[in-house]
Amino acid sequence: MKALVLSGGKGTRLYPLTYTRAKQLIPVANKPVLFRVIEAIRDAGITDIGIVVGDTADEVMDAVGDGRRWGVKITYIRQEAPLGLAHAVKISQDFLTNDKFVMFLGDNVIQGGITSLVDEFVNSDYNAQIVLTPVKEPQHYGVAELDEEGNIIRLVEKPRNPRSNLALVGIYMFDQHIFEAVNSITPSWRGELEITDAIQWLVEHGYKVRPYIHTGWWIDTGKPIDMLEANNRVLLEMEHEVRGYVDRDSKVDHNVTIEEGAEIINSVVRGPSVIGRDTRIVNAYIGPFTSIYHDCHIEDCEIEHSIVLENTTIVGIPHRIEDSLIGRNVEIRRSPIKPKAYKMTLGDNSKVGLL
Ligand code: TTP
Repeated sequence: MKALVLSGGKGTRLYPLTYTRAKQLIPVANKPVLFRVIEAIRDAGITDIGIVVGDTADEVMDAVGDGRRWGVKITYIRQEAPLGLAHAVKISQDFLTNDKFVMFLGDNVIQGGITSLVDEFVNSDYNAQIVLTPVKEPQHYGVAELDEEGNIIRLVEKPRNPRSNLALVGIYMFDQHIFEAVNSITPSWRGELEITDAIQWLVEHGYKVRPYIHTGWWIDTGKPIDMLEANNRVLLEMEHEVRGYVDRDSKVDHNVTIEEGAEIINSVVRGPSVIGRDTRIVNAYIGPFTSIYHDCHIEDCEIEHSIVLENTTIVGIPHRIEDSLIGRNVEIRRSPIKPKAYKMTLGDNSKVGLL
């Protein structure tokens, strides 16, 4: 069994963060989502992993390397443009050969990993297995319609009038028949080769496609609000540990991780939260559900329910920062220079809510 991880695409919904960074490398609870995907695959016993990369190939390859760190072997597959999930399968045929494989979207986070999903598929005579989960707004997802016996009748990408609330989770399993499908379908109205069309093709041509209903949580980290939601979930479930320094004047909850070299000085850190390597928190309040990445400096301010990326400085802000996704190398501070005014250098599509 092999794995195919999709880490190309544009990430327009996470602009401006993804102008300059692959969205799969944005950390959730201080670990890039893509690393979590690789770990889930490795934990399911799969060590031969292909990663489909696009415009952000160099960055992904730099961060992931050859996979030795996880005890896996990574092969990179270049996709010249994000022409769809089924297109990514098509260009990966030389890597996948005739092996069964699991395809995992590199920006998805799933509770409980994929070990049982993989085991059930390997030991079955199904040609494909899709993972479904009930969602509130199915019109935003690929949706499956099942008959009374639970067999798949139809799959529709973002239907206007969904016939069920079962969305396709970004984890799929296939045998070699998927190549017949991806080579037979044509691009959709949005110009992409859709994986839903390929699976529909398998159903229509008599191949056995098994629906697996996932009952835990699953998050497609497409939008900033999804990143914060994934951050909450992972922070709640992870094991916490203090490896950095906490001074005597600080109060740190038991469900807080302080990474190596981090310093907490005269501050309160409420869990679940994580403070990254070599980050300094001084005279500050860090509220629950907050992940501060490495090499940040947070002083004289309050932050809650937020993600702050590396090397960012936030100093002397009089109001609490909440529900925020703050990028790398950002500086937010009070300015002593008159006239008293907000002075900002913000990237395209930035969003700031001021009091
Ligand atoms: P999407 O979230 O569907 O697409 P996107 O990354 O372009 O994002 P946005 O809609 O915000 O512009 O992609 C799901 C995953 O699959 C993501 O990790 C990117 C990857 N992908 C590819 O590798 N190749 C592709 O052709 C497409 C469409 C996506």
